[in-house]
Amino acid sequence: MSDLMQKIVALTKRRGFIFPSSEIYGGFAAVYDYGPLGVELSKNIKEAWWRNMVQLREDIVGLDSAIVMHPKIWEASGHVSGFSDPLVECKSCHARSRVDHLLESIGVKADEKMSEEEINQLFTDNKDKVKCPGCGKSDFTDVKKFNLLVKTNLGNFTNDWDKEPTYLRGETCQGIYVNFRNALDSTRVKIPFGIAQIGKAFRNEITARQFIFRTREFEQMEMQYFVHPEKEMEEYEKLKEYRWQFYLNLGIKPENLKWHEHENLVFYAKAAFDIEYNFPFGFAELEGVHARGNYDLTQHQKFSGQNLEYVDPFTQEKYLPHIIESSVGVGRTMLAILSEAYREEGERIYLQLPYKLAPYKVAVFPLVKNKPEIVAKAQEILKTLQPQYMTAWDERGNIGKRYYAQDEIGTPFCLTVDYETLEDNTITVRNRDTMVQERINLANLSQFLAGKFS
Ligand code: GAP
Repeated sequence: MSDLMQKIVALTKRRGFIFPSSEIYGGFAAVYDYGPLGVELSKNIKEAWWRNMVQLREDIVGLDSAIVMHPKIWEASGHVSGFSDPLVECKSCHARSRVDHLLESIGVKADEKMSEEEINQLFTDNKDKVKCPGCGKSDFTDVKKFNLLVKTNLGNFTNDWDKEPTYLRGETCQGIYVNFRNALDSTRVKIPFGIAQIGKAFRNEITARQFIFRTREFEQMEMQYFVHPEKEMEEYEKLKEYRWQFYLNLGIKPENLKWHEHENLVFYAKAAFDIEYNFPFGFAELEGVHARGNYDLTQHQKFSGQNLEYVDPFTQEKYLPHIIESSVGVGRTMLAILSEAYREEGERIYLQLPYKLAPYKVAVFPLVKNKPEIVAKAQEILKTLQPQYMTAWDERGNIGKRYYAQDEIGTPFCLTVDYETLEDNTITVRNRDTMVQERINLANLSQFLAGKFS
């Protein structure tokens, strides 16, 4: 693990952002829990996304579909037959590894679309050079493809439910496709329009790697945009630009982002680009922006037997809309944001988070805790701020340590109430990024903060 990644893992554990799941039971691989600070950061990321994708767009509506849906949906989508990773097992220590990751470790790229035979051949050709990450030996089984869908028995009460399982959704967008007609019939949207959704997805990922970058339970933020077939590429270019700008608006430096074009498109796709971020382990996929043709609605029309065609209200033209998609994980966005915000200046560690993402916006400190008038005044300020801002309270130790503790969790402003406050109604406001302290009259505090957070 890179140095920066180790520091992020340590800080996020120490300060209550991210905990390994089920820790007191020895942990549960590739699953994480968001702690008191993590849940705020994740909520703020989701709010920023929702604002960008739904609130500011009259042509996009929201949805919250169920996690467990009709199992036929996953047959129609192709996940039951095709959603799989190629695996090998080490004959010595029995660790299972993804073949593409093993090949990548020796600089050989395995194409995502290769058949089991093709990838087996590529692996056989390179087998001697590859070492098991568990024990370092080079003795592997043949390649097997392993389905990533997570089975469950919800709604199936038979003893052998495993033969006809239901599934925890592997991606949120299928819930969007199957509600396309409902959204159309119940709102005033007309093509082109989009449906956005944030929700949990589950995948039996083989390798637990890179912290929250790849987990088995994760949240996706997906928007599917339904367009006239002839407008697909034009709308696709607009969406690419819109999504790129979203990350710049979150304070990500342009040099830490790049487009990656998929080399081999699936047969129905018109174009597929990923936005990659320069994570501590190098550039990797943050978000996919794909032009999917009419494949999704064609499949659901075929498997459900329902007509999903759109009738243009002006021209009466009938057609199956094409879809362009934007899909990104909340955890992956959080890792990108944390990597971008992490700063060290001597002893001081701070997160230079954009104000809108910071878990706490303000912290209030009484200078001393044994002077009741100071504590009471600080409490009064806390209570006036709480309805509007997530506000932290700290009365322990010296002020310098309290500033550093807030720096580490990215709180933009610390307010200190002291003896002077009791005399002239002023407080000290300390800025996270510049460390500059200024004296502000309490009568101007609300305007001061509104100016910073507007
Ligand atoms: N509907 C398209 C779709 O799900 P994907 O490339 O499989 O496409 C989209 O996933 C995004 O979801 C990825 O770019 C990534 O941000 C996030 N994602 C996918 N698998 C993930 C995992 N195992 N852990 C965390 N995030 C994941």
